[in-house]
Formats: sequence, C-alpha cells, structure tokens
Amino acid sequence: MTPIIIAVDGYSSSGKSSMAKRLAREIGYRYVDSGAMYRAVTLWAMRNGLVRPDGSIKEDTLIASLPEIHIDFKVDSNGQSTLLNGENVEHEIRTLEVSSHVSPVAAIPAVRHSLVLKQQEFGNKKGIVMDGRDIGTTVFPDAEMKVFVTASPETRAERRYKELTDKGIDTTFDEVLSNVNERDRIDETRAESPLRRADDAILLDNSNMTVEQQSQWLKDLYNQIISRHENSK
Ligand code: DC
Repeated sequence: MTPIIIAVDGYSSSGKSSMAKRLAREIGYRYVDSGAMYRAVTLWAMRNGLVRPDGSIKEDTLIASLPEIHIDFKVDSNGQSTLLNGENVEHEIRTLEVSSHVSPVAAIPAVRHSLVLKQQEFGNKKGIVMDGRDIGTTVFPDAEMKVFVTASPETRAERRYKELTDKGIDTTFDEVLSNVNERDRIDETRAESPLRRADDAILLDNSNMTVEQQSQWLKDLYNQIISRHENSK
C-alpha cells in the first residue's frame, strides 16, 4: 500500500495527540507531535533567559539562536519522547509553565518557518501522522487525509486538568481553563498560520465521545481514504 500523509489539527487538549498516536501505532506509521517542537523551543527560551517577566519573548535573540536548537524524537517505553539538543525533555515541556509561554513563541514567524521545514523533512517519505495546528493548511497542504478536532473549552480543560494532576502537577481547574482559553485566542488570532480548519479537513467534535470511539472513528476514516486512494491508482 502506498503510504500517505495524515494531518490531525485542532484545538489544544482536544485529544488529537492521543488519537493520532494510536492511529500511527495501529497502521505502522511514524507519529510526530509538532506541538512538542514548539514547546521544546519555548523551554530553550525559558532556560536561556529569553522570556521577560511580563511574558514577552526576546525575539531577536531567539531567532539568532534557532540554528543551535535541535529537536528530535525517540521511540521509547513512554511511546515517544522529545529531545532538545539530545536531552530528553518530554516531562518538562508538558508543565503549565511551558504551556503558558508557548503561544507567543509559536507566533514568531521565524520560529514557525524553521519548525515547518523540519516537519516537512520528517514527512518526506510519507507514512506519517502529524498533529498540530497548521499541518493540513501549511505544513502538508496536500496531505491525503486531514482531520480537524475540536471540543468545548470546558471539556478540553477537564481533560488537561486530569492529565496534569495524574502526573502529580499541582494546578487548579480554573487555571487550566484560563490557559486553554488564552491559548485558543492567541492561536486563532496570530498573523502567521493561525489555527483554522483547512477547507478539505474533516471535522470531528469529540466533546461527547470516548477515547475508544474517537480512535475507531479515525481508523474508519483512514480505511475509507486508503481504499479510495488505492482504487484511484
Ligand atoms: O498541541 P500543543 O498544545 O502541545 O501545542 C503547544 C502550542 O504550540 C500551542 O499553543 C500552539 C502551538 N502549535 C502551533 O502553533 N502549531 C503547531 N503545528 C503545533 C502547535
């Protein structure tokens, strides 16, 4: 079967990563979490004093440092871990502190250009499931399968709150909800590749779906697209 590119975009904490990861495992594709790449750049900026006390970013220094920031993934017992200059930062990039600084970093055009190039490189042999915000619009506008996932902000905040507290991270539901709303606002209104559904992406509102139902929905869609793709050859 000819490998294809699968783009799974959507709102933060919409469950898109879990769905995308599981589909990739089931069909033997590579999975790339593009949000982890923006998070890793943010962590690098935080560690190097490029986030001012008011939350703004020292953009020029960050842009000049981009050639020194290398991001990769390794498959391990966690499924997959993100590497920042060879260091495993998978846990650190998921903290609320990184979450609260990532949107302004992801809004910097030079950061986006650099990460988009790297993401396109990951997909050059196809056989990939990538999730993010602009995968179906900017990174792989010709992806054979595009999905856009959404759920209400409250549902997403509840999921994120559970995920963080399960990991022992201390936070409150209100703090998580306000982070979700703020990230939506910045992601949707930034000038460069704002979060939006590609015209040819299939919409999934999973507010009332179990993880099992979402995964089945994605797998069914993949099977339909693959059979259409094979028949058209
Ligand atoms: O999916 P996530 O919550 O881990 O993403 C972290 C941030 O990175 C999010 O606020 C938006 C940004 N992002 C982006 O701008 N483009 C992507 N392709 C992926 C994530």
